[in-house]
Amino acid sequence: MAVGGYIRKKKGVERMKNIDLLVEEHDCILKLVESIEEAAFQMYEIHQVPVEDLRLIIDCIRTYADNLHHQKEERMLFEPMLEILGDVGEKLVRYGMNVEHDLARFYVRSLEEALDAYEINPTGKGVLQIIGHAMEYANLLRRHVDKENRVVFPFAVRELPGDVYEKVLKNMNGFQTENQTLIQEKLKQICYLHQKYVESQE
Ligand SMILES: [Fe+2]
Ligand SMILES: [Fe+2]
Repeated sequence: MAVGGYIRKKKGVERMKNIDLLVEEHDCILKLVESIEEAAFQMYEIHQVPVEDLRLIIDCIRTYADNLHHQKEERMLFEPMLEILGDVGEKLVRYGMNVEHDLARFYVRSLEEALDAYEINPTGKGVLQIIGHAMEYANLLRRHVDKENRVVFPFAVRELPGDVYEKVLKNMNGFQTENQTLIQEKLKQICYLHQKYVESQE
């Protein structure tokens, strides 16, 4: 490899360490996704819905996966990518990641509506709707996280200019500090759900 290429790669590897925060959050979101999938499978088997746990799942999705993670990506990483990284940034972010974030919000709204309807009238078809929306969300998030980890983050890390990249990290770290208490509370709930739906089945 030419020296320039080596330096570029090394810079990318070093920088990647700094964006680990988003990748670590993906691991927690995937834990939540596993719990959703397992809860959906149990609903499929017993034809009943654990309403309280589903409300907690929706809250963890909205607060942790969306407010604390997706909105951080959108405001602090994707915005500079859109401003600076031209057509590829536009394709990856505006027509890719941002669309998927909106789709995830739509699936969660649909899940909540199906849950509200089930509470009023708990039918078998109502259970089916809840399972369907829960699995839509789970499948979308798995693909989304994989694309960000393998393509979007490495691209941003490699291509954003140094000063912009430093600002991204500074903003993200500040955001983490401001929201530390809420983050810890949600992580505890995500672990509780994972313990109840996944680990206890192993
Ligand atoms: Fe995302
Ligand atoms: Fe993400």
